[in-house]
Amino acid sequence: MSVQFVVTPVHLSFKESILTKIQKLPHKNLVLGICGGIAAYKCADLVRRLKEQNFDVRVVMTQAAKEFITPMTLQAVSGHPVHSELFDAEMEAAMGHIELGKWADYILIAPATANTIAKLVHGEANDLLTTLVLASQAQVIVAPAMNQQMWSNATTQQNIKNLIQQGIILIEPASGVQACGDVGVGRMPEPADIANMLADIAFQPQTLKSKHIVITAGPTVEPIDPVRFLSNHSSGKMGYALARAALQAGAKVTLISGPVNIQPPKVDTFISVTTASQMFDAVKQNFDQTDIFIGCAAVADYAPDKVSEQKIKKKGEQINLLLKPNPDIISWVGNQKDKPFVVGFAAESEHLQQNAIKKLKTKGLNLICANDISQPGVGFNSSSNRILMIDDNLDETLLETDSKDNLAKKIIFEIGSKIIN
Ligand code: PMT
Repeated sequence: MSVQFVVTPVHLSFKESILTKIQKLPHKNLVLGICGGIAAYKCADLVRRLKEQNFDVRVVMTQAAKEFITPMTLQAVSGHPVHSELFDAEMEAAMGHIELGKWADYILIAPATANTIAKLVHGEANDLLTTLVLASQAQVIVAPAMNQQMWSNATTQQNIKNLIQQGIILIEPASGVQACGDVGVGRMPEPADIANMLADIAFQPQTLKSKHIVITAGPTVEPIDPVRFLSNHSSGKMGYALARAALQAGAKVTLISGPVNIQPPKVDTFISVTTASQMFDAVKQNFDQTDIFIGCAAVADYAPDKVSEQKIKKKGEQINLLLKPNPDIISWVGNQKDKPFVVGFAAESEHLQQNAIKKLKTKGLNLICANDISQPGVGFNSSSNRILMIDDNLDETLLETDSKDNLAKKIIFEIGSKIIN
């Protein structure tokens, strides 16, 4: 199964890499597809770095790539003949493109040009690299590199969105001075950084293999009348990052999400809900098969007592809105007899630790992730977060401000180690 995932350079600061805690697996097979861009000159170093990270590397070049670096150089650093022709009798006799596609665990395209990206989106197969991608079940990862204007072009951006939807992993280009003199986003990240990201993707331990994890994400929306509703600022980013990290850790993932504006990862089951009561129903329906439950959704605590069928008219005077309490979903899960491993979140604007501990105890949680939403860049709607994790022994771990993707990996790793022990 492919995983929808965007890797950002912020991963580079993921110092407590899981790799430092768990021994690496045996090598993985990687095809490096090189396209014709100035960043191709970095690929000799990239091959070397990938080999250091335990990848067996075979190189495929487009014709244009040969304008920037020679096949001889790449053959020397990879230790294997370089492939570039679709119809090459000699190469086909050794390892043909179909076999190469089957051999590969990963296909990394770096630098990926706007042209090759467009071809991948449309399933074109008019050169060896694009044909190989179509003929392979390997996870494809692209590291685009191009002029900043080409990168920000609406067509390129749409193509990138489509690629992500197809399950291809994107390594985001870095920003800086470009070979053409422009300044902006479009540089290929440094080879060592790309190799580290690949290692994080390929050698992430399968700590949740064969576990079914149910994650709630996003807000709930409680209608007042046909045009008005009660809700909150949850974007779904934290919950979706957890779903991605859980997939990478080998879990079967059911993601139950309120309405958000971001693309869901390619989870095993995606359930779209609107209200707290719909979210509760979906959680109950999945309860028997749940090994781990994470309540990351910002569930509205109250809903209008009655939903008006017609738009409520303005009368120019005060009106009262009667609210009824919504079901507390995670409390229900945490207080079942045969409950799964239950992880809650606490969005607090004061007394972070005390309030989190109270929720941990009253809601029957095994672990709580508390975020202080009064701080900038923490909690709702931002791409970063800062989390105080507290377990049911009241042991605390502070996860300092980082991207939600990186924090999600750490939370999932923590859950994995608690389940194993
Ligand atoms: O979605 P993002 O923009 O990325 O923002 C992330 C987040 C801020 C929403 C997330 O990090 C977070 O804190 N989620 C929990 C928000 C919340 O509702 O917190 P709470 O303290 O009100 O609830 C505590 C726990 O009870 C949560 O696990 C919540 O899912 C659960 N709950 C709450 C009310 C309710 N009726 N049912 C529940 O299950």
